[in-house]
This record gives sequence, C-alpha cells and structure tokens, in this order.
Amino acid sequence: MDSTPLVGVLMGSKSDWDTMQHTALTLKALGIPYVAHVASAHRTPEKVVAFCQGAEERGMKVIIAAAGGAAHLAGVCASKTHLPVLGVPMKGWATEGMDALLSTAQMPAGIPVGTLAIGKAGAINAALLAASILSLGDPALRTSYLGYRQAQTAKALADDDLTLP
Ligand code: RP5
Repeated sequence: MDSTPLVGVLMGSKSDWDTMQHTALTLKALGIPYVAHVASAHRTPEKVVAFCQGAEERGMKVIIAAAGGAAHLAGVCASKTHLPVLGVPMKGWATEGMDALLSTAQMPAGIPVGTLAIGKAGAINAALLAASILSLGDPALRTSYLGYRQAQTAKALADDDLTLP
C-alpha cells in the first residue's frame, strides 16, 4: 500500500506468509495501510531491531510479529519499541504451534506481547485487534471496523438455515 503504514507486520520466514497473508488481507479489507516484511530474530536480528526502532517515526501505531518454533520475534520487537506488539504463533513442524504459542505468550513481566491464537485465526484476529486499537483515535476506521463486525454478524445469522435442498 502506498500511504503511510499504520501497521508493521513482521514474520520470521517467507514460509509464514501462507498464514500471514490473512493478516494482510484483513488489514486491506479494513482499509488499514500496512507494510509486511520477513525479518527473523535469529537469522536477521539487525533488520528486526532497525525496523522496530524506526516504526514510530514512520507513523506506525501497531506491530504484528509472527514466528514459529522457539518464537522470540514478538518479544524482541517489544523490547525495541513501546508500540503495542501483537504476536501470532505459527504452526510449526513438531508441536502444531504449541512451542510458538508458549514462546510468544510467556513473556516475563515488564515487556508485554499481546498473543493471538495459533495460525490463521490468530493472523486474522491480529489484524482485527490492530483495527480495534487504531479505532480508538480514528473515527473513520472505527466505522469501517464496526461495519466489518456487523457484516460478520449478519453472515452468521444468515448461515443459520441448515435444511437440505
Ligand atoms: C521461524 O522458523 C519462522 O517464523 C518459521 O515459522 C519457522 C521455520 O522457518 P523456515 O525454516 O521455514 O524458514 O523462525
């Protein structure tokens, strides 16, 4: 997107994009400008630090960080910015994402990471939680976010007809 990004999305590997595209799609549906990059806490730590340290100056208000395995990306991001950091645990190769969930959620007191569900649900909800946070100071976005929720409610009610054709 070309306007000033309000949300910065980092993921530890391009292999996370399959899941994290749902964050991007949800942000896009809500009209929230974002940037998304691959940046790893262990493979490219300097890139992570530079991104997080420059995020506020670039106009970002929320960081979303996704990683799998021994997932320390969200915690490292939170150590380098006071902006809210939302962590999305990726389903890994060994424990279906439980390793990443615990690594992301179990931050010692002092540096918070708001942790979402493992995988696609967490990816979507990270975008929605970012929208909720941004809505506090943005009436137009508040309208857009409430519209999303109302449409979702209407769809859930319409889906109630379970008779066979
Ligand atoms: C993590 O390791 C990444 O976030 C990814 O979820 C996982 C596997 O990465 P690849 O080996 O697929 O690049 O750092």
